Amino acid sequence: MDREKVIEIDDRLQHIAFIMDGNGRWANRRGMPRELGHKKGVEVFTDITEYCHKIGIKYITVYAFSTENWKRPQKEVESIMKLLDEYLDKSASEDACVRFIGDSSRLDPALAEKIRLMEEKTRNGTRVLNVALNYGSRAEIVNAFNKLAAAGKREITEQDICSALYTCGCPDPDLIVRTGGDLRISNFLLWQAAYSELYFTDTLWPDMTSKDVDLAIEDFYSRKRRFGGLDKK
Ligand code: FPP
Repeated sequence: MDREKVIEIDDRLQHIAFIMDGNGRWANRRGMPRELGHKKGVEVFTDITEYCHKIGIKYITVYAFSTENWKRPQKEVESIMKLLDEYLDKSASEDACVRFIGDSSRLDPALAEKIRLMEEKTRNGTRVLNVALNYGSRAEIVNAFNKLAAAGKREITEQDICSALYTCGCPDPDLIVRTGGDLRISNFLLWQAAYSELYFTDTLWPDMTSKDVDLAIEDFYSRKRRFGGLDKK
């Protein structure tokens, strides 16, 4: 990943979220089982998150497993969970504060415990890596409202909702990158994406490189973000 020119970023780009799509197709095209696509996907996830941290991105969120992904064949689900388990074993030296966002109640208790330990161990990391696992944005919003209702809130503000989401404390993503060619958000960060810039690429996740990240970032900086206002004169 070391290239001579390192792209420069500033405070306008603090948080990038990735929808890591295309592992299955990447494997199919090589006549390999889908599981090997996910394996390669994890290697690329490590490279890309390290690269983003290196260039100064403070917050990264990745969509690792959605609430709908349980519908996949059991063998594939198991392989993704195993990869996560291996990641939790290996990444003890991760210097980012790793947070898992999503509903952990359906996870294997041993995996959930490893997650808890990693979150505890990396608590003081200088940057943030959110891993969305068993995550669905509508469920997250419903969960947030239920939390507020349980706390007796009657007049709910936007700030109350932000604070009750899994992403509490994280700024909204400035840029959401989806690989794999589909042009949709797939129940990812629906509330948080209100003003995010969206970047879609046909590149399959396992083919994603730091150069592709640079292209997405350059595209981000070419856009005018007005947040509903007008251009500054
Ligand atoms: C989408 O590709 C990818 C997933 C549903 C799983 C992504 C998971 C990983 C990369 C592993 C995550 C692990 C860590 C440690 C974060 P797809 O299978 O939908 O691809 P397709 O659209 O080509 O079928």
